[in-house]
Amino acid sequence: MSTLGSPLALRGGTTLRNRIVKAAMEEQLAGPGQQPDGRLEALYRRWGEGGAGLLLTGHVMIDRRAVAQPGDVVLDEASDLEPFRRWAAAAGDTPVWMQINHPGRIVLRDTGATALAPSAVPLDVGGLSRLYPAPRPMTEADLRTVIDRFAQTARLAQQAGFPGVEVHAAHGYLLSQFLSPLANRRDDAWGGPLRNRARLLLETVEAVRDRTGPGFGVAVKLNSADFQRGGFAIDDARQVVDWLSGSVDFVELSGGNIESLTRPLRPADERTLAREAYLIDLAGRLVDETAAPLMLTGGIRRREIAERVVERGFALAGVATALAQRPDVPLRWLAGEDAPVEPPCSLIRSKPVRAAAVQAAITGRLQSIGGGRDTPPRPPAVALLVDRYRRSRHLARYRRDRAAR
Ligand SMILES: Cc1cc2nc3c(=O)[nH]c(=O)nc-3n(C[C@H](O)[C@H](O)[C@H](O)COP(=O)(O)O)c2cc1C
Repeated sequence: MSTLGSPLALRGGTTLRNRIVKAAMEEQLAGPGQQPDGRLEALYRRWGEGGAGLLLTGHVMIDRRAVAQPGDVVLDEASDLEPFRRWAAAAGDTPVWMQINHPGRIVLRDTGATALAPSAVPLDVGGLSRLYPAPRPMTEADLRTVIDRFAQTARLAQQAGFPGVEVHAAHGYLLSQFLSPLANRRDDAWGGPLRNRARLLLETVEAVRDRTGPGFGVAVKLNSADFQRGGFAIDDARQVVDWLSGSVDFVELSGGNIESLTRPLRPADERTLAREAYLIDLAGRLVDETAAPLMLTGGIRRREIAERVVERGFALAGVATALAQRPDVPLRWLAGEDAPVEPPCSLIRSKPVRAAAVQAAITGRLQSIGGGRDTPPRPPAVALLVDRYRRSRHLARYRRDRAAR
């Protein structure tokens, strides 16, 4: 039976030295021109020393006209590859794969972006919905452009020295919007039956593969379920994993989206939320039925749980929050320490505000490690204020850059 410390040979030829993967966390550490800032190198150097078998970057945008946050890195035809080269090399012999993403309708109004989406279905995030512009249904030409941009960004990542990419098709961003019968109401070849709703993802993966060639790693992050009534559910995930299994190195399973969550990327049910590896039972149903190696992410914060995930048959255990708190947890877990990590918690009453505050506390940790300070996480309410200030500065620069182009 595999253990956390067993190596894993991927189909593209890469062998990971163990089963612990740093899952994607949006660092919001872009410098001018949405290029990676030097703090990203320092952060990934630290994680490179931390013992994980693979590091997935926070999502990198494929189109500078549509960013999830104004501090997000963009990799497109206008990017200078030099800082990307330094980022790819920062973790030494630990491979770094770039997560690539298009936010679709999850763009904030103040960025000036057009919200592209499968259909004109506005995002429903309660009182915060007005922050998001009404989405415009994508034309065939828009879809071709997006597929081409995913492939182009993957190719540029390869040229910069990243040995693989992860296509983000979870958490309600564009590819996940297409998969969702709630967000995708199209009656053409890109909507309706699951095969049509999955077409954008499948064609994107194919285009990425074609543009990067054999030996380059390609993974997909997919929701095991969106946790919305009538939304993308576990049986849909089973089918999509099956369609992907011939063309990817692994599929990462996560869950939830901005509409369904009280905390980012967790099911809305607080009882579920309190559990560790909260998707293990749901996503575990796919383990025995698919040829593709699966990675499970969500709530893995101590060794025993990571071991349980691998024992359940997942090829890889994805860890986000715990690796922001303690960049060396993989080394500790592999050495047999349980090394539990407590996530930041907050008593803020409003669920969306609490979610944003906890996320800000974790992002603050990434920025602190990247800045060489390594200070403990701020209380989430304070972190949220700092985050708002920092975001306003990123936004001003992003808007200036956009106006100049
Ligand atoms: C600050 C922060 C930023 C995140 N950014 C991303 C991202 O860019 N892409 C992504 O797929 N998931 C992102 N996630 C979700 C994580 O990859 C992971 O799925 C989720 O946090 C659950 O894992 P955990 O319990 O180990 O934190 C982010 C999570 C946090 C806390």
